[in-house]
Amino acid sequence: MCGIVGYIGQQDTKELLLNGLEKLEYRGYDSAGIAMLNDSGLNLFKVKGRIARLREKVDMNVQATMGIGHTRWATHGVPSEDNAHPHQSASGRFTIVHNGVIENYQALKNEYLQDVSFGSQTDTEVIVQLIEKLSEEYDTTEQAFRKAMDMLKGSYAIALIDEKDNETLYVAKNKSPLLVGIGDGFNVVASDAMATLKVTDQYVEIQDKEVVLVKRDQVEIQKLDGTTVEREPYTAQIDVSDTEKGTYPHFMLKEIDEQPLVMRKIIKEYQNGDNELKLDSAIRDAMKACDRIYIIAAGTSYHAGLVGKQLIENIATIPVEVHVASEFSYNMPLLSEKPLFIFISQSGETADSRAVLVKVKELGHPALTITNVPGSTLSREADYTLHLYAGPEIAVASTKAYTAQIAVLAILAVDTAQAKGNNLDFDPMQELGIVASAMEALTDQKEAIEALARDYLSTTRNAFFIGRSTDYNVSMEGSLKLKEISYIQAEGFAGGELKHGTIALIEDGTPVIALSTQENVNYSIRGNVQEVVARGANAMVISMKGLEQDDDAFVLPQVHELLTPLVSVVPLQLLAYYAALHRDRDVDKPRNLAKSVTVE
Ligand code: M6R
Repeated sequence: MCGIVGYIGQQDTKELLLNGLEKLEYRGYDSAGIAMLNDSGLNLFKVKGRIARLREKVDMNVQATMGIGHTRWATHGVPSEDNAHPHQSASGRFTIVHNGVIENYQALKNEYLQDVSFGSQTDTEVIVQLIEKLSEEYDTTEQAFRKAMDMLKGSYAIALIDEKDNETLYVAKNKSPLLVGIGDGFNVVASDAMATLKVTDQYVEIQDKEVVLVKRDQVEIQKLDGTTVEREPYTAQIDVSDTEKGTYPHFMLKEIDEQPLVMRKIIKEYQNGDNELKLDSAIRDAMKACDRIYIIAAGTSYHAGLVGKQLIENIATIPVEVHVASEFSYNMPLLSEKPLFIFISQSGETADSRAVLVKVKELGHPALTITNVPGSTLSREADYTLHLYAGPEIAVASTKAYTAQIAVLAILAVDTAQAKGNNLDFDPMQELGIVASAMEALTDQKEAIEALARDYLSTTRNAFFIGRSTDYNVSMEGSLKLKEISYIQAEGFAGGELKHGTIALIEDGTPVIALSTQENVNYSIRGNVQEVVARGANAMVISMKGLEQDDDAFVLPQVHELLTPLVSVVPLQLLAYYAALHRDRDVDKPRNLAKSVTVE
């Protein structure tokens, strides 16, 4: 979703802002802009479309040592140059970039800004016009800024320039992520450390309803009442090279290939020198103490949660419910007496999940976040965190985070089972090691999968994925991958459900991709394949070694039957990748999508 980058220092700011925005491209956006302040005033450049267009538009002769930049993912108002950020107040004195959604923007507009003429359809413009209005009443911009922040309802991460003050970037946040990066003689602002890692790895966390005055050599954090807050910076644990594509044509392909490495990293991080599981004992206690687990997540993380349910119920023998975050808040089920909430989120910033976490904390229930970003909002606000160790995931389509989530859930399940004294015939680290090797064998077979993608998916309008039991969960993930990057209409179904309605859609040549990795449902899913073939479907069976039949399109190396999703998803990820390539899609940045969905 939207991204923010800001700089105040001694160097020319253009390249830093443009480079920072390029690093944020992966989050998804539809327009972009930068504003730079120098002695001759404010220089503003905005475009609809990609940063490459912005680069062409920016006047490279402009020199400035402070500026702000933004990538916008449209919420209020269509994607256009007028609606692109930065936005300016009526006089042009104040210039703002904003992530989030201002819920009371219409009320503020009606009450305080009736005489102001607006240049955009955005909620953001209301903020900057309000600050200008308040600056007429208050002695300083700092006071007007704090007052304005106090009047906003909703989510925001904000950076503001006052044309009359070339010494300060005014920054604030509530519910949307924002960091201040500390440099030597300069400071930066970013919605994601990825944007500014090239210049600093030292960051200060900003908490909700705080404002920050960012100067060249000083950072002052304040509460909304003006009292100051002291906070030490921390070191961001991201390697810059992990954020580069290297020799790969796309981040998605690189991230698919990284999955065996991620499995091995997880094995290393969750094991002590005696080959025993190494988990925070507080997490173990929370798992043991609960009578039911509620997994909350969105998209791919939700699909990992469905697999997690099977792992936890089978291994740790605790009942588990899995809920889509955006539905849970409005439709909360009756909770058990001692619930434990597990939030699964690659980014740790998904607003839908965060809304549930806020409610859960109000109700006083314990919460564990499983995330790839330990300092993220969901991680900070939960009681406990388990790290995915997957390294930065840049492609919008989640791949290595999904398999990392399942691996960490398996480890959590086994750790709990051991603590409960359950009888176990399952060494998770050994089994994950086998999975890593199987993944390698799969990623070495790209040509075969590319050929399948060409044969089955290069021209079709729709496709179905079917499976039973855990294969059904993976079929949903396979269909999400395909639809989000190739734009083929795809659905994942429980094999047995097809004949209750959806089989009506099967025509001559309709691709049906069936998974068969579980012995107990092998017979039935093959029956479902026969049913669709009899109606003209172009069926492709992906089976596990030991269950294969002569006509199967692809045979997966054998792994423990509880961990099959970790390998069966790999060919589905590659099928989606190659189907998207054959259709000339923007694989890493699919249309309309954002990497981190920070609005509800
Ligand atoms: O960062 P999160 O894991 O919370 O994100 C949840 C979903 O937005 C995400 O998984 C989305 O579905 C991906 N685009 C899937 O590839």
